[in-house]
Amino acid sequence: MIPLMTELTTEQIAQSLIYPYLNHAVKFLQDDYATAADIDNGMRFGCGYPVGPLAYLDSVGAAAVRDALAVRYAETGDNLHKPVELLDRVADEGGSFTAGADAAGAVAPQLKHEIATVGVVGTGTMASGIVQVFAQAGYDVVFVGRSQDKLDGVLGYITKNLDRAISRGKATEDDKQAILGRLTGATERSALAQVDIVVEAIAEDLAIKTELFTDLDAILKPGAILATTTSSLPITQLAETTNRPGDVIGMHFFNPAPVMKLVEIVTTTHTSPEVDDTVKALTARVGKVGVSCGDRAGFIVNALLFPYLNDAIKLAESGVGLGTIDAAIKEQVGFPMGPFELLDVVGNDVSLAIQKELYAEFKEPGLAPAETLEQKVAEGRLGRKSGEGFHTY
Ligand code: 3HC
Repeated sequence: MIPLMTELTTEQIAQSLIYPYLNHAVKFLQDDYATAADIDNGMRFGCGYPVGPLAYLDSVGAAAVRDALAVRYAETGDNLHKPVELLDRVADEGGSFTAGADAAGAVAPQLKHEIATVGVVGTGTMASGIVQVFAQAGYDVVFVGRSQDKLDGVLGYITKNLDRAISRGKATEDDKQAILGRLTGATERSALAQVDIVVEAIAEDLAIKTELFTDLDAILKPGAILATTTSSLPITQLAETTNRPGDVIGMHFFNPAPVMKLVEIVTTTHTSPEVDDTVKALTARVGKVGVSCGDRAGFIVNALLFPYLNDAIKLAESGVGLGTIDAAIKEQVGFPMGPFELLDVVGNDVSLAIQKELYAEFKEPGLAPAETLEQKVAEGRLGRKSGEGFHTY
């Protein structure tokens, strides 16, 4: 007999959320969208998971996961629960998803452009974190915002983080002064004329970003790289609004940017190999792990993460407590945060926008945003930033 949702054990709760995520990761490998190493590194370094989905599958066994999903698919008819071909094959024939996945012998990427000064556009949480990452790695950073107040907000964010690092004995007052000394705030975009690369982290709105890209294309010196940290907009389209599509690339950082080690490096069909190499080398120089993927909704990490978060909301709608789900995930699979804790960190508005993009691109009914997510956003319950989301702060 199928247990009532409210009677699920913590193990059943975790499996019901994690197995479709594992299946989805195998689909990425099957589709050749990303390498096994990049899929696993994406989830480890972007979300702090103890192991990536493919290594996890290797440890629990493909057959166990395939069989559980097959039972679930028979009940739900949801395509996302149908074991993908490659999972089925490995379950039947044996083998590993991750053997040899570390690309031994690969040549380390080289800087093909000289990068001395970095520009950042934006003053929100992501932009502030990205400014900190580059300044901490020794780069001079010019950051551009719409008002002095917003520029002060970036300095406040970085100062607070550095003060916390000092109080934990991880940095000194001299380090802090050196990092702050590398920063130049500006309210005019023309301040970016001489930077070698710009990373933009402004509002996730195609019209707003298009205007910015057109303007930056006119302002930046020839050969400067134009990177975006968009998580959900088509980079190809942004590249095509400029006269330098070969110099446009995605550098998708994760929240909080100073802590999460991942950068997804997203190339379009226009991106030049030199720009790709330079951004890979730069990513390594700032102490991050880069993974590569093409310009598709959600890239690697968000496309695997957000359907799982959305499923967690749907599970809660069926009567399982938020705290029960958060605890089950941390206990059973060792994720650093439960789904509702993470949704509140990311922001429900951001999560809803990403989920809508995934649904629009992949058109799977199972990806439709959960009703409660829509409702939270409509009510202004956006998460930590508004004081209340799924939990109250
Ligand atoms: N800014 C800067 N530093 C921070 C920080 C913040 N907001 N929050 C925590 N830190 C630092 C702390 O100072 C500490 O540094 P130290 O180890 O050098 O002393 C370190 O991070 C660990 O912090 P804590 O010990 O206070 O807290 P935790 O151990 O609970 O770790 C966490 C916090 C690293 C955020 C951890 O909970 C985690 O990994 N969570 C998962 C986050 C995640 O999944 N992010 C991805 C979201 S999706 C996304 O960003 C994509 C986008 O497109 C939406």
